[in-house]
Amino acid sequence: MPASILVLNGPNLNLLGTRQPDVYGTTTLADVEAICRAAAARAGREVAFVQSNHEGALIDAVHAARGAHGAIVVNAGAFTHTSIALMDALSSVDLPVAEVHLSNIHRREAFRHTSYVSLVAVGMIAGFGAQGYALAIDALDAHLAAAGR
Ligand code: DQA
Repeated sequence: MPASILVLNGPNLNLLGTRQPDVYGTTTLADVEAICRAAAARAGREVAFVQSNHEGALIDAVHAARGAHGAIVVNAGAFTHTSIALMDALSSVDLPVAEVHLSNIHRREAFRHTSYVSLVAVGMIAGFGAQGYALAIDALDAHLAAAGR
C-alpha cells in the first residue's frame, strides 16, 4: 500500500472563495480538496484533508500524522510567518513536507517573505493558486516513490 498524504490547511483558508478574491481567487476550500483528491487518485495514493484556524489543532494534526501518513502538504496561512511551534512539530514527526501558498508570498508584504515552514520543508510552491496543491502532491508522490514508499 503506497504511503498516504496529509493535506493541512491553516487559519482563514476555510474562507477561500470569498476571502480577498483579488489575492486568492474564487476557488473554495472544497474545490481545493477536490483538486487534492484527484491528484492523489492519479498517483494511486490516499489523501486526508484537514483545516483548522487554531495553531494547537494544527500541531495535534501533525503529531497524529506520524505513523498514519507518509508525507504532509501544508499551507499554514499566516502561521507560516509566525509559528515556531508548528515548525517544531513538523520537524519532530520526521515526514517529508511540501509547503504550499496560493499567492506568491515573495511578491507581497515583507512580513510574508519569512517562512518558518520552509526551514523544515523539502520544497515550496507559491503563486499558482489551488493548482499548487496538485503540484505538491505530485512532488511528494515522486519523493516518496524514490524512497520506496
Ligand atoms: C497564504 C499566504 C499567507 O501569507 C497568508 O497569511 C494566508 C494564505 C497563501 O496561501 O497564499 O493566509 O498562505
